[in-house]
Amino acid sequence: MKVLIGAGNGGVGQGLIKAVSKRYPDAEIIATFRSSRPEKTSAAVQWYQADLTNSDSVAQLAKSVTQVDWLINCAGFLHQQSDNGFQGPEKSIRQFEPDFFLHNIQLNTLPTLLLAQHFSLALKKSTHGIFAAVSAKVGSIEDNQLGGWYSYRASKAALNMALKTLSIEWQRSHKHLCVAALHPGTTDTGLSDPFQKNVPEGKLFAPEQTGHYLLNVLEQLTPDQTGSFLSWNGEKLPW
Ligand SMILES: NC(=O)c1ccc[n+]([C@@H]2O[C@H](COP(=O)([O-])OP(=O)(O)OC[C@H]3O[C@@H](n4cnc5c(N)ncnc54)[C@H](OP(=O)(O)O)[C@@H]3O)[C@@H](O)[C@H]2O)c1
Repeated sequence: MKVLIGAGNGGVGQGLIKAVSKRYPDAEIIATFRSSRPEKTSAAVQWYQADLTNSDSVAQLAKSVTQVDWLINCAGFLHQQSDNGFQGPEKSIRQFEPDFFLHNIQLNTLPTLLLAQHFSLALKKSTHGIFAAVSAKVGSIEDNQLGGWYSYRASKAALNMALKTLSIEWQRSHKHLCVAALHPGTTDTGLSDPFQKNVPEGKLFAPEQTGHYLLNVLEQLTPDQTGSFLSWNGEKLPW
């Protein structure tokens, strides 16, 4: 089995790499990083540097990896330090800023579309393919009860729509493949760090734990489930 993990250097990405290499010691694991490659990872992982928001960079990656069974994109964004200090999800529409909104779309939505475009052929060669992206439950329109987080929610809802649309197109051309959006659960990474204080006890997962949960979900996927939005525990989420 050949597995490509986009943004394998992030918290969830590293957790997934560890889970896959533990459960499938013979799997060929390819992972990407943008800024820095993690120091401690299994020697079996082949690392490629790629900016997943850049079409040329993703095309270059696809030239190096010409066949793949599972492609899981773990890239994403929620907050950053800017010249004006901490910039994070909006509590109110008063805090909305176009640049921050577009940055969310760029990092949470665009990479999965570029990966789908450039890896279509590589995935077509698989007899048991999976194309998935780590989305977020807050991207569910139906499940939105709290409001706020305009940019992040909208970018994940757009990601979900992209995946759903792709699943319809690939039902015809990639009959052996399943397209899915995944919610990893709140995981202890840099991305969730400023927002962890209200997480109920036992609901903040270590990255490796999330990796195992996501792998449980991935293992159960079959082509007839294509176009699903699934939580870390296998629960089907509303779009
Ligand atoms: N942690 C949670 O509780 C939680 C909950 C729900 C959903 N999620 C989703 O899970 C995914 C992974 O998040 P995480 O918690 O693992 O966060 P993280 O540790 O901050 O990882 C984010 C990853 O995205 C990569 N990335 C950002 N911009 C990129 C670009 N232009 N090209 C390539 N890679 C890029 C980062 O790479 P560099 O460091 O090299 O820039 C990093 O590997 C995200 O989509 C997030 O929305 C997380």
